Amino acid sequence: MSEILARVEHRDDIALIVVDNPPVNALSQAVREGLNRAVVEIAADESVKGAVLVCAGRTFIAGADIKEFGKGPLEPSLPDTIATMETLQKPIVAALHGTALGGGLEVALGCHYRVIDRGGQVGLPEVTLGIIPGAGGTQRLPRLTGIEQAIELITSGKRIGAEKALAFGIADKVVDGDLTAAAIAFLKEKLSAGEAVVPVSARPVGKVDQTRIGEQIAKVTKKARGQLSPVKAAESVANTATLSFADGMARERAIFEELVASDQSKALRYAFFAERAVSKVPGLEDAEAKEVRTVGIVGAGTMGSGIAVAFADAGMRVIMSEMSGEAADAGRDRIDRIYADQVQRGRLTEDMTAERQMRITIAVGLEALAGADLVVEAVFEDLDVKKDLFARLDGILAPGAVLATNTSYLDIDAIAAATSRPDSVCGMHFFSPANVMKLLEVVRAAKTDDRTVKTALDLARRIGKVAVLSGVCDGFIGNRIWAAWRKQAEFLVEDGAYPEDIDAAVTAFGFPMGPFAVYDLSGLDIAWAQRKRHAATRDPAARYVEIPDRICELGRFGRKTGAGWYDYSGGGAPAPDPSIRQMIEAHRDEKGIVPQHFTAEDIQRRMRATMVNEGANILAEKIAHRPLDVDMVMLFGYGYPRWRGGPMFEADLVGLPQILEDVREMCAAGGHGFAPSPLLVELAESGKSFADWAEDK
Ligand code: 3HC
Repeated sequence: MSEILARVEHRDDIALIVVDNPPVNALSQAVREGLNRAVVEIAADESVKGAVLVCAGRTFIAGADIKEFGKGPLEPSLPDTIATMETLQKPIVAALHGTALGGGLEVALGCHYRVIDRGGQVGLPEVTLGIIPGAGGTQRLPRLTGIEQAIELITSGKRIGAEKALAFGIADKVVDGDLTAAAIAFLKEKLSAGEAVVPVSARPVGKVDQTRIGEQIAKVTKKARGQLSPVKAAESVANTATLSFADGMARERAIFEELVASDQSKALRYAFFAERAVSKVPGLEDAEAKEVRTVGIVGAGTMGSGIAVAFADAGMRVIMSEMSGEAADAGRDRIDRIYADQVQRGRLTEDMTAERQMRITIAVGLEALAGADLVVEAVFEDLDVKKDLFARLDGILAPGAVLATNTSYLDIDAIAAATSRPDSVCGMHFFSPANVMKLLEVVRAAKTDDRTVKTALDLARRIGKVAVLSGVCDGFIGNRIWAAWRKQAEFLVEDGAYPEDIDAAVTAFGFPMGPFAVYDLSGLDIAWAQRKRHAATRDPAARYVEIPDRICELGRFGRKTGAGWYDYSGGGAPAPDPSIRQMIEAHRDEKGIVPQHFTAEDIQRRMRATMVNEGANILAEKIAHRPLDVDMVMLFGYGYPRWRGGPMFEADLVGLPQILEDVREMCAAGGHGFAPSPLLVELAESGKSFADWAEDK
């Protein structure tokens, strides 16, 4: 028999049910068993007048044990456990601290009252795992908050603080100090008032406005972009308006069971664990990170300013270096604008931004960085400029200080070779806007030592980034995959699809934006300049699409010039432009290409095949070490829909033989230089998956 992880203690005539299952008191089978036993014991003990449910450790129950999902039912079930608690004729007060999430909040809703520590938070994040609350959350929460508020909370999956929980009727009291003592005092008050014990399930659902609920569900559906769980969750909450509690519960359970077995939920659960595993790099367990107190940044342009804000937001001291007083002033203006924008959006108060801004110093010259423990370089993408800068920094910084470059594609080995400390040089590739985007590629060059990698990974975690370790190659993991897809997207245009068809197919797949809208947003001129620089060394036999060059020749550099692949003269949204259509058609005629018809599914398959093939090459070359590294880059840096898990995880779900077929089609379209990844071929032909490959390694 497994260990029972909930025990009963006595405080005079009050029983304490103590859940103790570190680290987050997840509701494993042993906890559910313990809760059931506790309730039976308390019901039978006449000396007990009521109970307080409290958790040991850093948090109240943070939800069902996600590791148990997909393993078949393990009795007692959570809905049954909560029903048993609700039927107890003695009041139970849940004492909440830390994060009462998912099944944890559902257990609390099965109690008769809830008191919450002022620093506590509650939430039903099940939709982020591709499921809906499956133990009464969609049926009990609206009985406390009303249907509209419940839809908002459950479909967003967001946590709210104690004061809001009180305002919404989820908590009955916010307390400071000793939580258990406060919960006992609260219970005693209720007992002496002789209040009837009314379970939440027996309370009425408040006023219902069916039109507004319908509108709310339509909004949720649009925002979900193909993800099922938020829509199903909203529908389940809405059932409280028309079904009895018992029928609503039965419906909720049926939806939960269906979703928990779905590919979307598998993918989202994978993403949950992969997000946590990605920075735990095998082989680095014993490495010691350097302590970083002061970060230096070279360059106060858009990237450098965003990086500075990311560090300052995490409470770190930042010294920035610019070449002139003018450039320093421009940097200060950029930082001020970032913070002003945060205030305008209601994310920060003026006081908060003032404190953060004070953490950032901008100086002229590199000498100001002498005391930095780690310096991130964010200057112009030019190898000679960076080599020169690193040689100078090497002479200024203390021995042991780490030197990181934010380059997107330059050779970090060459940059490191310009210093006397190549072991302390690495890449820290931020994504724009650097203070917002979660992804950070930490790039290990040939001579980078473990201490430097660990320092960069730890620092990334401190500033709330998802850090992925990459090796050195053109574009590292993310931009290399993106470049491969961008090429394919251009081939598709040449072969018969229009930019708007491709963008529509890609957003229907679940990406926030299509590739052509993205090019226009980031500007077409930089890539054009790069193409011109590389023109002489381009393989003449490789397929090359001239359309982007022609667009640039017209001075159409994207959104910033009012036109690019799309026209922006009408305001914000990208509008298909008839003149670009004509240009594409004329170009096809010139090259003698007979346009083909591509369905949205054809486009989506081509995109996925491209990403998986490049991802497989990246794994085989050890640029990324695990399939999950590739997936986390695509999720957090490029908007690959989280509910698909990432290209490598999705490829396993679809089946590698099918993916290989798509890849072969993609390679045929690409012509010279395109070939299926040998690793993909090997796995597909031996009936293995990327997950098997990762396990075998
Ligand atoms: N089940 C199993 N393991 C869990 C877990 C859960 N619900 N929640 C966290 N863990 C594990 C993590 O994987 C991690 O393991 P590791 O140390 O081996 O990597 C460890 O607990 C600590 O977690 P974090 O690193 O995330 O710790 P933080 O302090 O940063 O965050 C937290 C704590 C806010 C509780 C965060 O872990 C979290 O958000 N957990 C998930 C909460 C959730 O989604 N709950 C709903 C579950 S579904 C459900 O309840 C269904 C019900 O309706 C029937």
